[in-house]
Amino acid sequence: MPYKNQFEQDVIEGLQQPQKQLSSKYFYDETGDKLFQQIMNLEEYYLPESELEILKTRTADIAKHIEVDKFDVLELGAGDGRKVVYFLEELTRLGKEVTYYPFDISSDVLKTNMANVKDKLPYLEINPIAGDYSKTLPAFAINTPKIILFLGSNIGNYNDERAIEFLRWIRSNMQVDDILLMGVDLRKNPKTILKAYNDSQGVTKAFNLNVLHRINRELGGNFDVDAFDHYPFYDPISGITYSYLVSLKAQVVQIGEHKIPFKKDELLHTEVSQKYSLEEIENMQKETGFHSVQHFLDSKSYFSISLFSQVSE
Ligand code: AVJ
Repeated sequence: MPYKNQFEQDVIEGLQQPQKQLSSKYFYDETGDKLFQQIMNLEEYYLPESELEILKTRTADIAKHIEVDKFDVLELGAGDGRKVVYFLEELTRLGKEVTYYPFDISSDVLKTNMANVKDKLPYLEINPIAGDYSKTLPAFAINTPKIILFLGSNIGNYNDERAIEFLRWIRSNMQVDDILLMGVDLRKNPKTILKAYNDSQGVTKAFNLNVLHRINRELGGNFDVDAFDHYPFYDPISGITYSYLVSLKAQVVQIGEHKIPFKKDELLHTEVSQKYSLEEIENMQKETGFHSVQHFLDSKSYFSISLFSQVSE
C-alpha cells in the first residue's frame, strides 16, 4: 500500500509490529520542540546542566588538544545555541579564530540559534546550515581544520549498532587532524536516571504522548490520547532507559484507512536513551577507527564530553 509520506509509512509499519513501536525522531514537531525545551529546564532532567558545567569549566582543557588557532566548529543538531555559546566564547577568549556552523533540521531553530549566539558574540562568523545533516555534512568533509560537536547525549537515542554506524559515518566525514566532541550521559544511580524520564510535573509524559497528537494532526488519526499513559523504565544492566506508552483500555485506533487494535495494558515502545560507562565509550572509539578518546566530566561525574581523535595521544 502506498503511503503519503515517510512519517505515515514509519507509523503504520511500527504499529503493525508484534511489539508496537514509534521512532523517537517523530517527537520533535513544533509542540514537541517546546516540550523538550521545558524538559531541559527541569531540575530532574540533569543532563543540560551537567553538560553546561563541562563547557563552562573544561573548554580551556579541551582547547589544549586543538593544535591550530583558526578552525571551523560544526555542530550537528545545534538547537538553540544557548549552551555552545559558552564553548565558543571561551575559544575566542583563548585567541582562537573560529567560524561556527550550526547544522539543524529546522531553519526556525537556526534563527533562534543565530540570535542567541550573536547576542553574546557579535563578531563571531556564523554560517547556519539548515536540513538533514546526513545530507549536508558530507560537503564539509574536506574542509579543514574542524571540530565536530555532537552534544546533548543525542547519541543515546541510537541502539549499539546504530551508534557505531553513526560514529563511523562521522569519521568518514573527518580529516586526520579533525576532532569530534560528543556529549554522553553516563551510567549513575538508577533512581537519578529514572527520575529524569519520569518528572513530577508530567512534562516528559506530555512529550511522550505528543507523538499521538502529532499522528492525529498530521495523519488524520483518532488516538484518544487520554486513554494512554507514560511508562519510562530504566534497566541498569543494559544502561537503557526505555519509554513506553500504555493503552489504558482495549481500543481500536484508526489512522487513514488503517485500523490498529490495542489490548488493555498493551505497550507501545517510543524511545531508548542509552547511558554509557567511560569504558563503553572507549569500546566505541576502538570499534569505529578513532585512535584515542579523552573524557571531560562535570563535578558529579554525571556526564562526559568525550573527545575523539584520529591521532594517538
Ligand atoms: C534529546 C535524546 C538527549 O534521551 O534524554 C528527554 C530526549 N526524552 N526526555 C534524551 C528525551 C525524554 C533526550 N535526547
